[in-house]
Amino acid sequence: MASSTMLSTGRSSPAAFMGNTKKLGPAAGRRGRDFFLKGKNFGRVRMAVAVNVSRFEGVSMAPPDPILGVSEAFRTDTSDVKLNLGVGAYRTEELQPYVLNVVKKAENLMLERGENKEYLPIEGLAAFNKVTAELLFGADSPVIKQGRVATVQSLSGTGSLRLAAAFIQRYFPDAKVLISSPTWGNHKNIFNDARVPWAEYRYYDPRTVGLDFEGMLEDIEAAQDGSFILLHGCAHNPTGIDPTPEQWAKIADLIEEKNHIPFFDVAYQGFASGSLDVDASSVRTFGSRGLELFVAQSYSKNLGLYSERIGAINVVCSSPDAAARVKSQLKRIARPMYSNPPVHGARIVANVVGDPSLFNEWKQEMELMAGRIKNVRQRLFDNLSEKDNNQKDWSFILRQIGMFSYTGLNKAQSDNMTDKWHVYMTKDGRISLAGLSLAKCEYLAEAIIDSFYKVS
Ligand SMILES: Cc1ncc(COP(=O)(O)O)c(C=O)c1O
Repeated sequence: MASSTMLSTGRSSPAAFMGNTKKLGPAAGRRGRDFFLKGKNFGRVRMAVAVNVSRFEGVSMAPPDPILGVSEAFRTDTSDVKLNLGVGAYRTEELQPYVLNVVKKAENLMLERGENKEYLPIEGLAAFNKVTAELLFGADSPVIKQGRVATVQSLSGTGSLRLAAAFIQRYFPDAKVLISSPTWGNHKNIFNDARVPWAEYRYYDPRTVGLDFEGMLEDIEAAQDGSFILLHGCAHNPTGIDPTPEQWAKIADLIEEKNHIPFFDVAYQGFASGSLDVDASSVRTFGSRGLELFVAQSYSKNLGLYSERIGAINVVCSSPDAAARVKSQLKRIARPMYSNPPVHGARIVANVVGDPSLFNEWKQEMELMAGRIKNVRQRLFDNLSEKDNNQKDWSFILRQIGMFSYTGLNKAQSDNMTDKWHVYMTKDGRISLAGLSLAKCEYLAEAIIDSFYKVS
């Protein structure tokens, strides 16, 4: 029996092992551990020791992630009518995950070629880096032709943002990053963890459920010269509200005037309008002005490669020499963080974007996905307008773009959506239309109207 064995050693009493270890101090804990590690199975007591001598007493439970935690809560709900509109992941009309046909074809090609699993260089797969920068800036753009882009394959959009944040922290220690209010929940975490100070610029106007363009310009103007301005390249998350081309031009004027550094987060290229080129036009507007800028790219959404963690950080520099230096330092930061990126997603992207026939097929599939979201958006608007006896103007839903709709519901109303209607969404009132089917629009409209009018 474990306790009698312990007693016979005379080192300590079972109560001491199982009870107040603080009085015992670390040395006793160590002795106990050594004793138990001598090869015998002491079962239950051994576990108690492991718990009681834990060095992690001071580690508190972290709150669930505001976005991924929604999916966790959804999984435990047993209701038949439950709907997960939390995470931005595309679903079919049957609400099933979707693997693109071009992805399957690219993976077959990889099998046929018998590709190996050797380490990639720190900067990633050369073929991927080439096509990914071209997709973003356009193959004929001066920044590409002049070799002024430092591209490093990284761990999808998040990892690319994090790498750039570490670079900013190292080379621009006095600079602040300005992020939109509101923004994707992880932006603040990324800059916090990288110890980069940030502030917010106004973006969303609750009165119009539209862009607060004047407020945005005022805040960018007021920021210290040389700040980083984080911009969503297209399909702003969470609002679904993008500046018009004319507004982008004005934003670029101001950023140039203030000597700020634009930092684009492009997580939805192709998903906003259905066209890869149209969705890259904001970035290209800035690039064509000869500005130095950062762009974090992700293939999670547009190629449905969520779990492959494939994306890139691109830094446009004023000369090829500066680009080479920047790239060398990005690699230097990546090496001790994760050494080198994974190859599977990179090969898929290189095969699809680098092959004219697969590339065309991809564009068609993307139009299909973007089209389904647009149909759902329209149906939701129709259902809301039909069901709302107060005739509220819901047309802002049609003006929003991309995967999301920002409903304007507050936290209490969003809670009602989940608690009463089993509709899972983030507490800022954002719903992912990519997780909605035409068949569920009517139910969702009822839930929104109930929450909007019955909960203050
Ligand atoms: C605005 C924005 N940036 C970046 C990302 C990063 O996604 P991932 O790391 O999956 O590429 C997301 C994902 O939802 C996003 O919405």
